[in-house]
Amino acid sequence: MSRGSTSLVSSGVTLTQAKSLIRALHGEIHARPTFWFMRQAGRYLPEYRAVRARAGDFVTLCMTPELAAEVTLQPIRRFGMDAAILFADILLVPKALGQNLSFREGEGPVLDPVRTASEVARLADHLEQVVTNLAPVLETVRLVSRQLPLDTALIGFAGAPWTVATYMVEGGSGHDFHTVKRWAYGDPDSFQQLIDLLVDATVRYLAAQIDAGAEAVQLFDTWAGTLTEDGFQRWCVAPIREITAQLRLRHPAVPVIAFPKGAGVQYQDFAALTGVTAVSIDSGVPVSWAKSVLQRQATVQGNLDPLLLAIGGRPMAEGAAQVLGALGKGPFVFNLGHGILPETPPDNVGRLCDFIRRWRNR
Ligand code: CP3
Repeated sequence: MSRGSTSLVSSGVTLTQAKSLIRALHGEIHARPTFWFMRQAGRYLPEYRAVRARAGDFVTLCMTPELAAEVTLQPIRRFGMDAAILFADILLVPKALGQNLSFREGEGPVLDPVRTASEVARLADHLEQVVTNLAPVLETVRLVSRQLPLDTALIGFAGAPWTVATYMVEGGSGHDFHTVKRWAYGDPDSFQQLIDLLVDATVRYLAAQIDAGAEAVQLFDTWAGTLTEDGFQRWCVAPIREITAQLRLRHPAVPVIAFPKGAGVQYQDFAALTGVTAVSIDSGVPVSWAKSVLQRQATVQGNLDPLLLAIGGRPMAEGAAQVLGALGKGPFVFNLGHGILPETPPDNVGRLCDFIRRWRNR
């Protein structure tokens, strides 16, 4: 019996009812590993760029269920991954809390910065409306789950509190993260109020995604690797543990994946400390180490370098073989170490999917 199936049975859900990728997240080992790719919907696909142009701006695309559902399904139709990931963005949560958000061409996200406890208190006044304000995203989840192939799972997601806070405090993409770190390290009790608000909003939002049809959820902590040792425990590990625990109370059988990008050796006890079902590793984590250390604690997801996918050919095949060879015989879901790059030729993605489908563990 595979790791994880006992907890599923004890929660009254039988493993056999779940889709392949969900069973893999729970620790079932498959001869042909299951896979999906971060940013599998996006600018590398011409059909995405066409819908994006129709929508006008990016936030409108995220908040228009028919269009967001269409771009969620585009990579599934073209390539047939084992999971679709909801098309939305981690910054929709600050927007739903009343923070101004826009995406400028070539500049990325721009937000009116939040830098004081009283500004956090003002956002907290919107907590009760978060799920209502994100209703279009939940409608996207419903539309997609009705249209998915039988064995294709739907993954919902949110940003982890630390990463979302970096954008909220810096007012956009941080370069050195000095402003947010000055607050977090200099006045931790006041910064904690922002993190607590994000934990609460994220639990409500992810639980609503699950109610609408998401079969697993992923927490993206893209900037976890910028924290000190103590900072990592307080601002990455603790909030993710809290979100996971609260989701488990309501949805015990729904896998929680966390992606603490750049965590380095702090990946070591991450799953044990947070209780997540699966840990997504970046391309800097040696797969031999992930096999001997991380796969003992949790399902590992990852970690082909997205640049190898953009390059294609032999470098891509050798990279994929290395990941599959090391991790494929344990609890594993194939993915990249970060999102698909916009310059990636779509044919490379097709070839990688074929390569994984032909792979057999022995
Ligand atoms: O396919 C998928 O993975 C699902 C959709 C998804 C998007 N963003 C769509 C998107 C997901 C899961 C995200 C997560 C996200 N958003 C993260 C965490 C993962 C990561 O990439 O590190 C972060 C940090 C964001 C915030 C964000 N969104 C930034 C900094 C940017 C601008 C940079 C960029 O890549 O353009 C975005 C925009 C964004 N989110 C795009 C897409 C497809 C590009 C927008 C466009 O079409 O112009």
